[in-house]
Amino acid sequence: MTGERDDDRRRPSQPPRWTRAQAARIERSADTVAPVIEPPAADPAADLHVWDTWLLRNRHGELADVDGWRVLFSLTAPEKLLPGKRHDVAEIRFFYSRNGTDWHGGETIFRGDALGQRQWAGSALYDGGELYLYYTAAGDDAADELNYTQRIAVGHGGRFVGGEEGVRSEGPWTHEVLLEPDGEWYETESQSRAMIYTFRDPWFFTDPATGQTCLLFEANTPVPPGSDRCGGDGAQQEFNGSVGVAVSPSGDPLSWELRPPLFDAVCVNQELERPHIVVHDGRYYLFVSSHMHTFAPGIRGYDGLYGFVADSLRGEYEPLNGSGLVVTNPASVPYQAYSWIAFPHREEILVGSFYNYREYAGESLDGIADLSEAEQRRRFGGTLSPTIRVAVDGDRTRITGTLAHWDVPTPAEDLPDSPEYVPPEGTD
Ligand code: FRU
Repeated sequence: MTGERDDDRRRPSQPPRWTRAQAARIERSADTVAPVIEPPAADPAADLHVWDTWLLRNRHGELADVDGWRVLFSLTAPEKLLPGKRHDVAEIRFFYSRNGTDWHGGETIFRGDALGQRQWAGSALYDGGELYLYYTAAGDDAADELNYTQRIAVGHGGRFVGGEEGVRSEGPWTHEVLLEPDGEWYETESQSRAMIYTFRDPWFFTDPATGQTCLLFEANTPVPPGSDRCGGDGAQQEFNGSVGVAVSPSGDPLSWELRPPLFDAVCVNQELERPHIVVHDGRYYLFVSSHMHTFAPGIRGYDGLYGFVADSLRGEYEPLNGSGLVVTNPASVPYQAYSWIAFPHREEILVGSFYNYREYAGESLDGIADLSEAEQRRRFGGTLSPTIRVAVDGDRTRITGTLAHWDVPTPAEDLPDSPEYVPPEGTD
């Protein structure tokens, strides 16, 4: 990691930041609170827990077309498992749909051959018929015990075949580790002082302004003990989330070089999860999911989708709506959805997520473990939520309504006129 940092010299020494003053403004409002979710009438993956989900897209970020089908990938676990255990066995499966509303499938994509003890979130590129399936290799394969090492990996070499009946995958897949933290821009596991370090959730992105090929990811910024960051407050310093980026100078989807973070939340939040960008009206909307419990001491945030806007990929990101909050759950069900993913639809931005815990308003998600196993299962959605519609005007956003669970329209498809949005009672 020496020599090649010329890009960096042109940049300000600090990435743009989410500041404590901005995050202190986080507040539920009529524009940011999603409706209470009702369970879907039918679940295309009833035998599975389904959570983090991403769409198969082309290099330009558009939904890919596989012989007339659209494809999505989800982290999954058998439904018989207690929901809280799912992260320890997560496996990527894929689903396909002709119309974006009826989804079929649910086969594992890598059939147990992927790197890591289990696989966490990623993104999927369909480029000239080739598939590049980026994921997080979670846990060290060689270790006997479950652990939390995270490496950014890819599976490639396999293909999808679409027919009348659906889409099937064909291997073999070649798996490679693409990126590991360098300890300078990106914190390593051994440097971490926090509950769990992060180096995960790769997201393929082509910058439309420059054509640069990028991979965004969730990471942490090293803050050495004794640093004066956060006014020297050691407790706050543990909250050091960042949005990392690697570039592929040749555009090769398999060859990446780390670059300094695009954005950080040191002193504010420890986990900027599943970072991704939607370019809308020529501006760069950077979205992350985060949890109530990963905000630093003294800041009250929610499980929510947070967003920031800049004029360029490396621009000065400003929080949307003053605080960053774009979508959150109603106060009565603060954990009902998580892992939001924004995608463009003409003038609006659509937001998918997974249906997490209903009928639960505890102080933290830890309280779920105190419920009976039957109740833990009953309250866990384990499927995709209704897609949320968001109107965007510069640095302001507003929820305008919802579509069905699992609805993934293309921009060519008209959406219904939405009636005026009525947010749930009690926005705070
Ligand atoms: C978000 C997340 C991701 C990770 C996955 C693990 O829901 O924490 O960052 O890839 O869940 O299950």
